[in-house]
Amino acid sequence: DGFSASRLFNQGYSYTYDDVIFLPHYIDFPTDAVTLSTKLSRRVALATPCVASPMDTVTESSMAAAMASVGGIGIVHSNTTAAHQASLIRLAKSHKIPFTHDLVFKRPSDSILSAEEFSSAPCIFVTDLGTHDTKVLGFVKKSDWEKLSDKETSVSKYMTKSKVMLPASYSFEDVAGYLVKNELEFVPLITDEVVNLVSRDDVERIKGFPKLGLPSLGSDGNFLVGASIGTRESDKERLEHLVKAGVNVVVLDSSQGNSIYQIEMIKYAKKMYPELDLIGGNVVTTYQAQNLIQAGVDGLRVGMGSGSICTTQEVCAVGRGQATAVYKVASVAAQSDVPVIADGGISNSGHIVKALTLGASTVMMGSFLAGSTEAPGTYEDQGGRQVKKYRGMGSLEAMMKGSDARYLGDKAKLKIAQGVVGAVADKGSVLNFIPYTMQAVKQGFQDLGASSLQSAHDLLRSGVLRLEVRTGAAQVEGGIHGLVSYEKKSF
Ligand code: XMP
Repeated sequence: DGFSASRLFNQGYSYTYDDVIFLPHYIDFPTDAVTLSTKLSRRVALATPCVASPMDTVTESSMAAAMASVGGIGIVHSNTTAAHQASLIRLAKSHKIPFTHDLVFKRPSDSILSAEEFSSAPCIFVTDLGTHDTKVLGFVKKSDWEKLSDKETSVSKYMTKSKVMLPASYSFEDVAGYLVKNELEFVPLITDEVVNLVSRDDVERIKGFPKLGLPSLGSDGNFLVGASIGTRESDKERLEHLVKAGVNVVVLDSSQGNSIYQIEMIKYAKKMYPELDLIGGNVVTTYQAQNLIQAGVDGLRVGMGSGSICTTQEVCAVGRGQATAVYKVASVAAQSDVPVIADGGISNSGHIVKALTLGASTVMMGSFLAGSTEAPGTYEDQGGRQVKKYRGMGSLEAMMKGSDARYLGDKAKLKIAQGVVGAVADKGSVLNFIPYTMQAVKQGFQDLGASSLQSAHDLLRSGVLRLEVRTGAAQVEGGIHGLVSYEKKSF
């Protein structure tokens, strides 16, 4: 039945995940026997094949810590100064806590005029310069501020001077136990370099989540964290900042990676930091992939125009259906043992099963993660629904902040958007939905008779796994259909 992958993907069509469907194979093991452990790049191993995309509405420190704690990894975006990007990496790597807070800092002489200044944090820290600094003079609890009659009072007059500090080696469970035992509302965690915080609300929130799998840790015992850079001259200095901050892997962020600029940057980075894994891309063809492999990349990022906020295919008329792109690139990358990241276009666990089976070693996601608690930004109410902003790095709004380098834009010329700004619905915490999603992926692998990524890749290449193209009607049939909405009446 069906076609082998090599036959299906060599007929001149550009297929995306929804166009194709795998035929079930033979099951001779339970779901829990499936392992999804994998490699992000030549030397970076992960227990969970999930990567958070380097986008400014997806990956900052909280996402990076959360993804590492569930066995994946986050790539901190570069649409900010090098110093700030490095500080986000330090923060994510400084503790064993699976998230960070957006903390607020004030000078001793400042006052707090409105409750909104607390943002989502339970307290405001006081430091000499009113900026993120580990020499914390004290903090103002929201509950104390609410009781204050004269809001113009400077914070030094009523801040709490307690210097409770927990060691960086404390796990989330240790901190939770400490909070309960000492009946504290929250506890600041301060290392030599950064400040983080865990509150009772965090403990309550995370209590019912599935048990986390193996976290992604580096040889120093800290979370693995990646970061993106561009290919401009100034990115060499950025790279130095990131390496000093302890970055574990670097992604060269470009929508068309097969360029002289990227190849020169690969050669430079490989010479300067031979121990650092470098991921090149994006690519969608075997020709592009071969060029970057030859230049020395340790991993390849695949996808052009397949992302949910992308307009590259419409604006520039180039790109490829993501299923075809992943299959084609992975076929050549496998010959050089270069792991492939399937980047963009993931909106359900079935897409992840398809990407991984077609040859990818990990999937990179933007929209799938952007509605989570750990994504940057705050939720807004939109018609009774909680949403977070999600924008393409090629959108005009993001490019105004500097991300046009990804699209090889020139600051002096007209800016052409290759992405849009939108919003995504609240999905809760990645600490909750990534473990559930991975369980669904394991069930998909079981149906295919593949107990690991390697076995899926072998079954595909040997032609044992069979696929078919779905007609439009088959795609409708494969989704939910024929129902009207059902609201339970209370009697
Ligand atoms: P998803 O589908 O996960 O896609 O939301 C995320 C990926 O989309 C890419 N990306 C863009 N592509 N214009 C584009 O053509 C953009 O503005 C843009 N921003 C992000 C990127 O590869 C990301 O990982």
